[in-house]
Amino acid sequence: MTSTWDALREKQAQVAGRSILSLFDDPARARKFSARTGDMLFDFAKTNIDDETLKLLSQLLETSGMAEKRAAMFAGQPINDTEGRAVLHTALRNLDGGPVQVDGADVMPGVLTALDRMRAFARLVRDSDVTDVVNIGIGGSDLGPAMAVAALSPYHDGPRCHFVSNVDGAHIADTLRGLNAKTTLVIVASKTFTTIETMTNARTARAWMTEHGGDPQVQFAALSTADELTAAFGIPPERVFGFEDWVGGRYSVWGPIGLSLMIAIGPKGFDAFLRGGQAMDRHFQAADWRENLPVLLALVGVWHAQVCGYSSRAVLPYDQRLSKLPDYLQQLEMESNGKSVQIDGDDVIGDSGPIVWGAAGTNGQHAFYQLIHQGTRVIPCEFLVAAEGHEAELAHHHNLLVANCLAQSEALMRGRSLNEARDKMVKAGFTGSELERQARHRVFAGNRPSVTLVYPKLDPFLLGQIIALYEHRVFVEGVILGINSYDQWGVELGKELATSLQPIVDGEAPADGKDSSTAQLVGYVIANRG
Ligand code: F6P
Repeated sequence: MTSTWDALREKQAQVAGRSILSLFDDPARARKFSARTGDMLFDFAKTNIDDETLKLLSQLLETSGMAEKRAAMFAGQPINDTEGRAVLHTALRNLDGGPVQVDGADVMPGVLTALDRMRAFARLVRDSDVTDVVNIGIGGSDLGPAMAVAALSPYHDGPRCHFVSNVDGAHIADTLRGLNAKTTLVIVASKTFTTIETMTNARTARAWMTEHGGDPQVQFAALSTADELTAAFGIPPERVFGFEDWVGGRYSVWGPIGLSLMIAIGPKGFDAFLRGGQAMDRHFQAADWRENLPVLLALVGVWHAQVCGYSSRAVLPYDQRLSKLPDYLQQLEMESNGKSVQIDGDDVIGDSGPIVWGAAGTNGQHAFYQLIHQGTRVIPCEFLVAAEGHEAELAHHHNLLVANCLAQSEALMRGRSLNEARDKMVKAGFTGSELERQARHRVFAGNRPSVTLVYPKLDPFLLGQIIALYEHRVFVEGVILGINSYDQWGVELGKELATSLQPIVDGEAPADGKDSSTAQLVGYVIANRG
């Protein structure tokens, strides 16, 4: 294992100065360094990866035991071993697949019954006088449905959907203002039903509804694994949609946590979304690694983050409706693979998963692309773009969008040399030392890697494919790093300290034992509030 890492680092040192563009001397490069599934095309030709690199990366894959671990995940084995749980979000979209065993019992009948209950409830809501749905949840209980509802707005024919996550009272206040408490459905989405932000917002929403003539007894639903807590909150069992502990929060949009999405686009649309995820599962399980999109995306990711040492990657959807995808992937990837310890307790070799960030194109071009093109750090970019938009009458907008997306990846790779910059400045009338000075500012180093995922049109099936693609990419990267991608102990310490700080911020306890910076900050807040 270590020797393959060493060989990869050696390879990286050899090719670091090589121009990516020069790799296109091979006329077959684009075809060789891309793969398809269904109608999707993943192109990673604009990276510095060559045949030998890919072979070495595939050795990493081989030694990591990815194929066996993938089989173990789909078979319901407890691969989340710090929590002793299976990892089976794939069962939620296993619509017409076979049985899936956990501890000797087939979970599929339960999954399909839960899905039927969701469908019946969604139809009921869509046929009722409900005008607004407010999903209260955070992290995985918010980001998935919020992202997917925005992504699928052309298919949205149900009530309006709103998402409240932040414990900042501004979020719920701004959301509820203007809503009719009598025609609003509140969905409390929390796997544990203990998350302080969600429970605080849920209580505030309940008080608001009662105060404004609604009936929380009838207008609240819960999505949770914690039956006793939902009952204690006063939500009757017929409006509680449960799921099992083998569905991780950030992987939960496929089940009850996706209820707001199902209400928005209808059960049929939601089924298509699940079928997209299932199609990607099948591709991931069956395709040879060289044709396997999640595997290739992961290998490119490992090459950039762990071998080249690029500390972040930018997700750049040229699709306005995917503008929440970077936030969603931030949780999916960083909560899954942002870990320094391997499953066996050893340190991770090299770096953990990278920082994931981004924004929709073309907006990002007018914000942070400057740094991507001319900053000192290399930031691998991941572009996404549809062949076609939904606005047939605005096809010229879409073509401009596509042209911008492709222009960015080309510009990142090609760059602009000093000579080219100088020629431009000469044409603009510059001479002498001013020509030299001005030209330098217009140089683009180029050789900056990117990949592009292109798909026909963003519909429910396609969105399902995209999300499952990234989920499996996270799995493969996690396996190569030896990480358990399915726990999230790193969020605990902050939660514990927030609990201990709350009485101090409330002014009910002294800041004894706190460092002087924390004490000073609390002191400032107490002294400056009304
Ligand atoms: O951020 C930590 C976390 O546990 C996430 O993994 C999860 O998605 C989120 O909190 C919300 O948890 P819950 O659904 O239990 O409220």
